[in-house]
Amino acid sequence: MAKNSQYICNACGAVHSKWSGRCDACGAWNTITEEAAATGPKRTSIGSAKGRSIPLTDLSAEDAPLIRTGSGLEELDRVLGGGLVPASAILVGGDPGIGKSTLLLQAAAAFARKGAKALYVTGEEAAAQVRMRGQRLGLTDAPLQLAAETNLRNILTTLENERPAIAVIDSIQTMWSDHVESAPGSVSQVRACAHELTSFAKRKGVSVVLVGHVTKEGQIAGPRVVEHMVDTVLYFEGERGHHFRILRAVKNRFGPADEIGVFEMTGTGLQEVTNPSALFLSERDQPAPGSVVFAGIEGTRPLLMEIQALVAPSPLASPRRTVVGWDSARLSMILAVLEARAGLSFGAQDVYLNIAGGLRIGEPAADLAVAAALVSSRQDHPIAPDTVVFGEISLSGALRPITQADARIREAAKLGFSAAFGPQGMKTLGDTPLKLHTYIDLNDFIHSTFGAIET
Ligand code: TYD
Ligand code: MG
Repeated sequence: MAKNSQYICNACGAVHSKWSGRCDACGAWNTITEEAAATGPKRTSIGSAKGRSIPLTDLSAEDAPLIRTGSGLEELDRVLGGGLVPASAILVGGDPGIGKSTLLLQAAAAFARKGAKALYVTGEEAAAQVRMRGQRLGLTDAPLQLAAETNLRNILTTLENERPAIAVIDSIQTMWSDHVESAPGSVSQVRACAHELTSFAKRKGVSVVLVGHVTKEGQIAGPRVVEHMVDTVLYFEGERGHHFRILRAVKNRFGPADEIGVFEMTGTGLQEVTNPSALFLSERDQPAPGSVVFAGIEGTRPLLMEIQALVAPSPLASPRRTVVGWDSARLSMILAVLEARAGLSFGAQDVYLNIAGGLRIGEPAADLAVAAALVSSRQDHPIAPDTVVFGEISLSGALRPITQADARIREAAKLGFSAAFGPQGMKTLGDTPLKLHTYIDLNDFIHSTFGAIET
C-alpha cells in the first residue's frame, strides 16, 4: 500500500514523493495529503490507427456544428460568450453558500424551457430538497430532469441513456469514481471524475457544467486542479453582506474572458441585473469627500463604480492601509506617487479604500479615480457628484491613456453624468453632452481639481 501512495497538494495538485508541511510548487502550507495512486489500465506509448490527424481545412461545418444555445438569462449567456457551446465543459467555482446551486438550477431550468434537454445531478442534496428549492424559485413547470447521485459510473450510465444536451454536476467534490481509492473530494478523485466527465462531454456531445467549491483550508481539492481540463472557467463571487453576485469568466475557449454577469440574490432566487451601473451607484447621495465615480470596463461592458476613500490621522507608528475590492500593492504605489510627485504625504494617516457594492476592480485605469478619492478625503474637498474619473498613473506621475475611453464616456453620459476627468489624448464625443477635462500628469489634475494644496 505504502508503495502505491503519493503525496498531492490540495491547492495546486502538485505531486510530491514525500510528505512535507509546505508545497514547493505553490508555497501553500498544510495542503499535502497522502493519496493512493490511481490504478487503471497501463498506457502504451504507441497506439493504433485511431491516432490519425486531419487537415484543418478538411473539417466541414457539419463536422462541428457549433450552434450556441441561449438560456434566455442574458447575464449568463453573455458570460458564456453568447450561449452554451455544444459538447463543452464548464467549471463554475465559488465559495460555499454563495449561490452556485441556485444559479445552476435556474440556468438548467432556463435551458430546459428553451427546449434543450437538461439534467441536474446533485450529490449534496436529496432530490426532495432540490424540488423544494425549485418550488421556491418558481421552476416547477420547467421540463428538467433531476438525479441525486454521487457514483460516477451511475452518472455516466444515466448520461449515456438520457443523452441530455446539458448536464449540471453539483458538485464535483462529492463525486467518486471506483477506479480511484482515495476519498471523494481528494485531488485524485476530483481529477479522475472531472476527466471522465469532460471526455464524455467531448465524445457524446453533452455540455457538462461542473460545480466546484473553493476552499481556503485546503481540506477539499479546489477547482484549480481541474481548471486546465475544461473549456470555460467561471467564478461566482460576491460579498457575504451584499446581495450582488458576479459571475466572472476567467477562462473561455469560446468567448472573451473577463466578461461579467451581475445578479442579485433575492428571496426567490437570483435576479438578473441588466443595468448594473445604475445599481452600484444607487446608494450614492450627497457629494461626500473621498467618494469618486470610476468609469470602468468589465469584460466588454462599461460599468460605473463608486470608489470610497477615508484618510484619517493615525495614532499608530505604522499607519493602517486597508483595502477592500482593490489591489493593496497598487494602493501603496499610488500613495508613493502622490508623495513623491505631488508632495502629498500620507505617512501619519490611516488610509481606507473601499469599492462600493462588493465589487472588485482589476483595471489600472482606476488609478486616477483612486488618487482623486484619496486626495479628496485628505483635503476634505468633495468632487462634484456628476463627474466620472479614469486614467492610469505611471510612476513618474504622468497620466497614461486608457483603452475604450469612448465606451466609458458614453455610459457616463447615459447615466446623467456631465463631466469626465481623464488623461490627454481622448477625443470629445460629438454626440454626448459630457464635458471632457484632460490632464498631462497627476500634479496638473490635483491643481485643477483641488486648487493649491499646502503640503
Ligand atoms: P446555494 O445555491 O445553496 O449556494 P452554493 O451552492 O454556492 O453553496 O445558496 C445558498 C444561499 O443562497 C443561502 O444562504 C440562501 C440563499 N438563497 C436566497 O437568498 N434566496 C433563494 O431563493 C435561495 C434558493 C437561496
Ligand atoms: Mg450548492
